[in-house]
Amino acid sequence: MKAIVCTQLGGPDQLTLQSLPDPRPGPHEVCIAVAAAGINFPDTLMIQGKYQVRPPLPFVPGAEVAGEVIEVGAEVTRFAVGDRVAAFVPVGGYAAKAVASEHECLALPDGMSLIEGGGYGLVYGTVSHALMQCANLQPGETLLVLGAAGGVGLAAVQLGKLMGARVIAAASTADKLALTRAHGADDTINYREQSLKGEVKALTQGEGANVIFDPVGGPLAIECLSAAAWGARYLVVGFAEGNIPALPANRLLLKELSAKGVAWGAFVAREPEVNAANFAQLARWYGEGKFKPVISGQYPLAEAPRALHDMLARKVTGKIVLVPDAA
Ligand SMILES: NC(=O)c1ccc[n+]([C@@H]2O[C@H](COP(=O)([O-])OP(=O)(O)OC[C@H]3O[C@@H](n4cnc5c(N)ncnc54)[C@H](OP(=O)(O)O)[C@@H]3O)[C@@H](O)[C@H]2O)c1
Repeated sequence: MKAIVCTQLGGPDQLTLQSLPDPRPGPHEVCIAVAAAGINFPDTLMIQGKYQVRPPLPFVPGAEVAGEVIEVGAEVTRFAVGDRVAAFVPVGGYAAKAVASEHECLALPDGMSLIEGGGYGLVYGTVSHALMQCANLQPGETLLVLGAAGGVGLAAVQLGKLMGARVIAAASTADKLALTRAHGADDTINYREQSLKGEVKALTQGEGANVIFDPVGGPLAIECLSAAAWGARYLVVGFAEGNIPALPANRLLLKELSAKGVAWGAFVAREPEVNAANFAQLARWYGEGKFKPVISGQYPLAEAPRALHDMLARKVTGKIVLVPDAA
């Protein structure tokens, strides 16, 4: 099978397209014919050796795939050949075939295409957990989303609205902000040109945001605390900006703020039933036509380096996927 291989740590250009033996499933695993492999920001870090997960070289990057099950291990009980699934792999996704534990596979909601499925599990799993369990977001609360046109950001805009929040979307360009409005944002802030704190305060009559979803980090994280309401929950989702902020504890004290980490992968391992309930709710919403994964780009497998460059250059909106069949 064809696969993208990381043979040495570095930027996207050192990735190579290779022919590898087909993977075979272990007793509790399934083999999936990959229709779409989701590209996620952590992939850009993993190939540079900058992510918390450091697979031994050489490895095939790619944390999630969607496709049809083509083989099942002897002990597999939940899935059969022909099922349409999304799977968290967590490496090996940039390939024509991938194996996944049956416990990390998800039946795709009825009507969801395999291409949409490639951008579904990881971001919607993360965001539903962040907003439901980590923030306990309530109807009528104000949710501020940073990086709001990106993968997890746009999903946070969509799900925040579905949970009844007023959503303020913050991003770096007018086009990105227009996209967030098309997906439900009530108000927008361009944090390249406007003061995050000043705009949030103006939009909330001085109160601030009740929940802040931050996948960006860096200096904006500190501004977020100034834009927070009394008792707000600040969600530490990621550091796409590149710098891990040191949060000043006095800001937490003054307004009784909570800073809450979001670690979806570890949550799934520890609380699989809660994660399953989140996905059951997502499937209901999808079935009712209340949201759709936003797939803004499909790249042939061989063009994985271009896709990763686009992500690093902040050109990507919503989700992008690799499509092995197009290779
Ligand atoms: N905690 C978890 O369980 C979990 C799960 C999934 C992802 N994450 C994390 O969430 C973050 C976002 O992931 P994603 O897949 O949604 O990525 P993404 O689609 O690339 O979105 C990231 C957004 O961050 C903004 N950004 C600001 N500075 C940036 C920079 N220097 N380089 C790139 N983007 C920058 C960009 O929006 P603007 O241009 O509008 O600023 C971009 O849209 C990553 O740090 C990832 O590791 C965490």
